[in-house]
Amino acid sequence: MELLGLDIGGSGIKGATVETETGELTAERFRIDTPQPADPSAVVDALAEIVSHFNWTGRPLGCTFPGVVRQGVTLTAANMHGDWIGLDAAKLLSERTKSTVALLNDGDAAGMAEMELGAGKGVEGTVIMLTLGTGIGSAVFYQGRLLPNTEFGHMEIRGKEAEHRASAKVRKERGLSWQEWSLRLNEFLARMELLFTPDLFIIGGGVISKADKFLHLLQANAKIVPARFQNQAGIIGAALAVQKSLE
Ligand code: BGC
Repeated sequence: MELLGLDIGGSGIKGATVETETGELTAERFRIDTPQPADPSAVVDALAEIVSHFNWTGRPLGCTFPGVVRQGVTLTAANMHGDWIGLDAAKLLSERTKSTVALLNDGDAAGMAEMELGAGKGVEGTVIMLTLGTGIGSAVFYQGRLLPNTEFGHMEIRGKEAEHRASAKVRKERGLSWQEWSLRLNEFLARMELLFTPDLFIIGGGVISKADKFLHLLQANAKIVPARFQNQAGIIGAALAVQKSLE
């Protein structure tokens, strides 16, 4: 089934139509810079522009959000405007686009895409997906079932939130070498292993297009693989989420 997936990120808001059987994008991705400040009305304007671009008004769509989402309500906003906290964002977007909307955490969406169609397909044990971008997104699966809103990026490591040490944004801002950054990531992976003993880590986010620079530097007992859908995993997972909501 062809459905629209939207992905709200710290630097860009992206969308594409997706064939949910395969995860293939059926049209070229459309991207708008994330408005600053990223308050709900500015972001919903940008989302509505993407929906119009694809002539999708009135048709079901999925959308990711970089914070905790429960039943359509955005509960945290670490890298977004505080006005998102407690907002029924799914309803807002649904009213604006006259569409059925599935809204979910961005890490969860990326993980769903990878588990159903990508690097985690068929893996029955514990899988942890991590997206490295403005923040660090996470998703945990056991026997293919998602435990939503895990928020591992906010885990404290030596007195600091993990995403303030080891996100892709931090690497750039601090001018860390790939080696230096990998050490920080390895510390984070070690903490995850201590707590969850995963079978597989899937690493995604924008920086995974540069996997050749750092993936070989990552170390864990679990297998570590790059996301098959790279930075499109969020869009694809959003489309899969709305499909599920229609079933
Ligand atoms: C948010 C998460 C999100 C991650 C990646 C974190 O700051 O709390 O919900 O998944 O960033 O965007």
